[in-house]
Amino acid sequence: MQDATEPLGELRRTHRCGELRADHVGNDVVLMGWVHRRRDMGSLIFVDLRDREGLTQCVFNSANAKSAFAMAERLRSEFVVAIEGKVVARAAETVNPKLATGEIEVHVERVRLLNPSRELPIQVAEETVSIDESKRMQFRYLDLRRPVMTRNIMLRHRFAKAVRDYLDSVGFLEIETPMMVRSTPEGARDYLVPSRVHAGAFYALPQSPQLFKQLLMVSGFDRYFQIARCFRDEDLRADRQPEFTQIDMEMSFVGQDDVFGVVEGLVHHVWKNVMSHEVPMPVRRMHYREAAEKYGSDKPDLRFGMELQNIDEHVRGSEFTPFQSELDKGGVVKAMVIPGKGASSRKETDEITALVSNLKAFYASRQGGELKSSLTAKVGAEKLNAALDAVGAQDGDLVVMTAGPAATVNTQLGRLRLEVAKKFNLIPANKFEFLWVVDFPLFAYDEETGRLVPEHHPFTSPHPEDAHMLDSDPRKVRAAAYDLVLNGNEVASGSIRIHQREMQEKVLGCIGLNIDDARAKFGFLLDAFEYGAPPHGGIALGLDRLVAICVGSDSIREVVAFPKNASAADLMTGAPVEVSQDQLETLSIAVRVPANKG
Ligand code: AMO
Repeated sequence: MQDATEPLGELRRTHRCGELRADHVGNDVVLMGWVHRRRDMGSLIFVDLRDREGLTQCVFNSANAKSAFAMAERLRSEFVVAIEGKVVARAAETVNPKLATGEIEVHVERVRLLNPSRELPIQVAEETVSIDESKRMQFRYLDLRRPVMTRNIMLRHRFAKAVRDYLDSVGFLEIETPMMVRSTPEGARDYLVPSRVHAGAFYALPQSPQLFKQLLMVSGFDRYFQIARCFRDEDLRADRQPEFTQIDMEMSFVGQDDVFGVVEGLVHHVWKNVMSHEVPMPVRRMHYREAAEKYGSDKPDLRFGMELQNIDEHVRGSEFTPFQSELDKGGVVKAMVIPGKGASSRKETDEITALVSNLKAFYASRQGGELKSSLTAKVGAEKLNAALDAVGAQDGDLVVMTAGPAATVNTQLGRLRLEVAKKFNLIPANKFEFLWVVDFPLFAYDEETGRLVPEHHPFTSPHPEDAHMLDSDPRKVRAAAYDLVLNGNEVASGSIRIHQREMQEKVLGCIGLNIDDARAKFGFLLDAFEYGAPPHGGIALGLDRLVAICVGSDSIREVVAFPKNASAADLMTGAPVEVSQDQLETLSIAVRVPANKG
């Protein structure tokens, strides 16, 4: 390195790099941080000095501070320096309204080089340059220096802090639950931790604190929360990490409305304090079936319209076989209005159809009052016009129609709704549309095994009105379960729990767990239910997803300091790695890697 560094010694910073304003003009200040950008203007050198709070323009003048200027000539990106100088008002024409410190600059008198930097593998200062994500992961500590990432992580902190403040204010206790637990059935594969002491036995990392929080209710803590790390070995997507964070809550002596009240209060408080945004209360509620029928999803995005609409009655009895044969088989014909796209060419409608695989879509529109559709001859103008009227299509709108079994049509049109909204930029920015989805079925039917599986988890109470059907018609039983949806993302999920042993055993029986299996797996919970368990319920909010939505990111990796990539690897540390033979022997483990995975 070309320059000797100097010690910090007694020098202490007076301000952060985002802090100085016009009020500070005339102050002598000490700033410390990283060289973000450097501009050499001959006798003046400008350095934007950066720390996590922002940037300050520091001016080195060859006429006034010779030795500082000499050092400034040698500074490079990401060198760490301390500067001493005076705060000066910028000339009116050089004020930078985009920068919080844009009214001032610091005229540097002395500078100390605290540490130089090698040339960086990724650009920190250029926000617009797109960087390969694996590079960002490998040098994550540098990636986190990029102001956008710094802001994301700082917002995450403020979000979690607001959560803690609110829950404390309404009587919740933060209680930690163990990280090394017994494997419990929550749907995903477990991450396992071998025991040295108990050769051949394993702990599991918790998929969630579910059973512990229920046991805390049995202990009488009444209101529990935890910002809890959860671990699930499942296929990863943009909104899934193998380890992620829940705002986990449980309450005693409550029904669904009480849980909703607490979560709505929490959301309102956090959005107001962190986002300066007023979320209208109460949050809308929607039956899960209505969500499926109108939006083709159990997590509808309500930031835009384009609801799916049934047009069976309007097109029934036509000669158009793709519609009529589906109706004859008990299927449905549904339509969706794409605003203002009526004049789309055949090529453009083909592109719309191609947004969803296997979609068989048909189109109609009216332009200047004239019906335009390839179906007019077979369906008939009268029927088509009636269908277009029924779905509220305006002149110039494009109506897309498809027919098939209800579930397929809903799913396909639901996907198309989202893809079309993205393609034509129909989703307004800075909108937060919360929704409770309620009345899920208690069980789903697994076609492969012919078995019932819990839709949420096996500790969810049946809806009180439906419990009597558990023996006779379990597939009809609704659950006392609910999801919170935000802008089309499932951001929370919870339920009122079973708190009585007989009911727990009955529900476990419905999913084919006999009492001996159940006892072996979580006899401790069944036992606890016999020692005065209070009625209780709760919910867990996905912190990563909520924060990602707040910062406007599609991927939760943007709001996790050190995330894993899509194959669950940490590209910075290289984890997971093989371990030494010694370590394996201590754990009584022999490893056999299948040939295709070597
Ligand atoms: P659930 O499994 O639905 O419920 O999880 C609750 C919320 O956690 C978030 N989430 C995830 N976020 C990132 N990566 C993942 N892999 C991931 N998996 C889930 C979602 C989800 O809504 N014990 C129950 C809660 C309860 O009943 O109280 C549970 O864990 O936002």
